[in-house]
Amino acid sequence: MPLWTHAAMPSLAGRTALITGANIGLGFETAAGLAQAGAQVILGTRDTARGEAAAAHIRQRHPSAQVSVERLDLASLAAVADCAGRLTARLERLDILVNNAGVMALPRRQVTANGFEMQFGVNHLGHFALTLRLLTLLRAAPAARVVHLSSLAHRRGRIDFDDPHSLRRYAPWAAYQQSKLAVLLFAMELHRRVEGSTPGRGLRSIPVHPGIAASNLFAAGPGSGRLGLLMPLLDLAFPLFGQTAAAGAQPTLFAAAAPEAQSGCYYGPTGWGERRGPPGPAWIAPQGRDLATAARLWTLSEQATGLTWPIDVTPDVLE
Ligand SMILES: NC(=O)c1ccc[n+]([C@@H]2O[C@H](COP(=O)([O-])OP(=O)(O)OC[C@H]3O[C@@H](n4cnc5c(N)ncnc54)[C@H](OP(=O)(O)O)[C@@H]3O)[C@@H](O)[C@H]2O)c1
Repeated sequence: MPLWTHAAMPSLAGRTALITGANIGLGFETAAGLAQAGAQVILGTRDTARGEAAAAHIRQRHPSAQVSVERLDLASLAAVADCAGRLTARLERLDILVNNAGVMALPRRQVTANGFEMQFGVNHLGHFALTLRLLTLLRAAPAARVVHLSSLAHRRGRIDFDDPHSLRRYAPWAAYQQSKLAVLLFAMELHRRVEGSTPGRGLRSIPVHPGIAASNLFAAGPGSGRLGLLMPLLDLAFPLFGQTAAAGAQPTLFAAAAPEAQSGCYYGPTGWGERRGPPGPAWIAPQGRDLATAARLWTLSEQATGLTWPIDVTPDVLE
C-alpha cells in the first residue's frame, strides 16, 4: 500500500462526523482535519466551554469549517444516552463516528457514574454504548464508518473477565492495556457483526492507533500523580521517540476518509516500532485477533450497558 498523506484526503462535503474527546489532542486534530475536508463536524466534549473554544480554534484555522459542539460524558451511561438522543433528534444521518476520547493509567482507581473502572468504562464501555445508540443514524448513511482509537498498549493487554473493573487489584497500566485491547476487540467484533447481518449495511468498523503522540494524555493520567515531576523531562525527550498530535491523527483521518481504508483492518504509523510515521497497516497482537475473547467481551459489554445488538430492530431491518 503506498504511503498515505493528508494531501490525499477526499472531499467530505455533505458528510457529518462526530468525534469524541475533540477539544484537545488527537481528537482536536482529527476534527480539524475532517472540517478542512468539508465535513460538518460535531465535537463531543464533556466540557462544552472547552468544546466551544476548540470549535473557535478550528474556525480560525479553516474559516469555512462547519463545527458544532455536543455535550458528551462517556463516564455516564445516562449522559451517553442523552447525547445520542439529542443527535438522533437533530441529524438525519451520521457518516463518521470517531471513538477517540480516552484516559490513561490513572494513578488511583476511579469509577464512572455506573461503577465501572474509569479506563474500561470510558475508553471501552462508554464508546460501546455510544456506538450502539447511534447505529440507527449510522445505518441511515450510505457508507458510514466507525473509527476506534486503540493503542500500542493493546499488545500487553488481557481482558480479566473475573475482575474487569479491577475491584480486587488495581494496576494503572494493566487497566489501560485492558481497555485498549477491549477497544480493538470491539472494533473487530463490530466488523464481523456488520459483515454478517443486515443492520450494519455498508458500515465499516476500523481500529487505529496513533503511535506515540504529544498530547495531554500523560499529564491527565500518570502525570497527575508522582510521575508529574517527570513531565518537563518527558516534554524534552518526546520529539526523539514520538510525533506531534497532528501526525498522530493521520491514521484516524485515513480510516475516517480514505477510500482504501478497509473495515476490520488495523492502521497506525508505519515508522520504527509503529511509534511515528505515515499511516499504514498495523500489527495486531494475538489476543487482539482472538474471536472467542471478542465474542465474550461483547456479551460482557451488553450486560454492563444494558444494550443489545441490534439495538434498532425495525421492520425494514427484518426484511
Ligand atoms: N497520545 C498518544 O500517544 C496515544 C497513544 C495511543 C492511543 N492514544 C489514544 O488516543 C485517544 C486520544 O488521546 P490523546 O492522546 O489525544 O489524549 P488527550 O489530549 O488527553 O485527549 C483525551 C480526550 O478525551 C477526553 N475525555 C476523557 N475522559 C472523558 C469522558 N469521561 N467523557 C468524554 N471525553 C473524555 C478528554 O476530555 P477533557 O479535555 O475534558 O479531559 C480529551 O478531550 C485516547 O483514546 C488515547 O488512549 C493516544
